[in-house]
Amino acid sequence: MIEFPKDFLWGSTTAAYQVEGDNSNSDWWEWEKTKPGIASSGAACRHYQLFREDFNLAKSLGHNSHRLSLEWARIQPEPDKFSQSEIDHYIQVIDHLRSLGIEPIVTLHHFTNPLWLSKIGGWENPQAIQYFLEYAGKIVKSFSGRVKYWVTVNEPMVYTYYSYLVGEWPPQKKSPVTANKVANNLVDAHIRSYRLIHSFYKENKLSPPMVSIAQNMIAFIACQKSLRNNLAVYLRNRLFNFRLINLLYRKRCLDFIGMNYYTRHLVDTRRWSLWELLGNTCAKKHDTLPKNSLGWEIYPQGLYYLLMGLKKYRLPVFILENGICCQDDNQRWDYIREHLKKVHAAMANGVNVIGYLYWSLLDNFEWDKGFAPRFGLCAIDYSDYKRTPRDSARKLAQVASTGLLEE
Ligand code: NOJ
Repeated sequence: MIEFPKDFLWGSTTAAYQVEGDNSNSDWWEWEKTKPGIASSGAACRHYQLFREDFNLAKSLGHNSHRLSLEWARIQPEPDKFSQSEIDHYIQVIDHLRSLGIEPIVTLHHFTNPLWLSKIGGWENPQAIQYFLEYAGKIVKSFSGRVKYWVTVNEPMVYTYYSYLVGEWPPQKKSPVTANKVANNLVDAHIRSYRLIHSFYKENKLSPPMVSIAQNMIAFIACQKSLRNNLAVYLRNRLFNFRLINLLYRKRCLDFIGMNYYTRHLVDTRRWSLWELLGNTCAKKHDTLPKNSLGWEIYPQGLYYLLMGLKKYRLPVFILENGICCQDDNQRWDYIREHLKKVHAAMANGVNVIGYLYWSLLDNFEWDKGFAPRFGLCAIDYSDYKRTPRDSARKLAQVASTGLLEE
């Protein structure tokens, strides 16, 4: 048996747009309407109405923490207008979690933007930072000390990559120059909202908050060791995994490291070129790793390597997302169990991991992939929105409530 600390944070993550439904004032909503072949989020999981039921379920599954996001477009429907009724809704959400003894971890930006913001250029426009600060300020004030853990921006690099570099997500730009601008604006938004949240807690004599981003990390592994492949692995690690963390760490704008981990990328460079070094992934079918239903390789060792890479910062590490979409729920439990073993191994080697959140509590809207990928601990029947906890959810519940995992 391996044992996790008594105060370990166990739970799962959701994001507003992917579960709530009817976020008709967001940029993704508008985008979905114009894209033939792209699923509409529609009523999603009706979590906006059913949040109490969902969190009661989380409680029954042994969760003591839950990461959720707020839909900015609901809260600030127009540039100069906040909606008190939407703020009140989220206060009820947080209060319900608290009443169950579940620690809320609140994300301010999880991929979607108010439609009005996208119309003035979204994150390309430096004004987005100011608007984001107004929104963050309003939230922090309205929640008045109900929240300790904040995530300002979810996966800033993933968002920038899909929306501004490869052009697959709205606004579908394909420009390295714009992508760089957006990434810088998001970093700025984090730094300034980090400081804003801290000053508010200080001025109001609240115990200090814990603020971070959620950084997606990928295990880059060379197919074959060679000078070029090793260099490619080194560069990708530096650029895609650690650069942002290094930068925010140096600016003292991280109270913990929020980490999302799913998969590895095999690196196989064929020429000396920037694209080969930074972007190319191995196309050979020589590996035998199992995959999730989106084709992502399952590689728990990668979580261990990356956690060990974070040790030098001497900050608490919080796994804010780790999960699998699959048809066979046994595969889900294998995935969770094997990743938890690696988390434990890293902890035994000195990494201060404070929690593990599974993605996701519910099956949900997986962005441009629609509703087909099933990531949930609980299955959703989209014909009547019935939630059914899967076996893997019960197995994780056992670990969460005892802190013990069979080796
Ligand atoms: C990370 C993102 O934060 C989340 O929105 C997404 O659904 C999961 N990865 C799975 O792809």
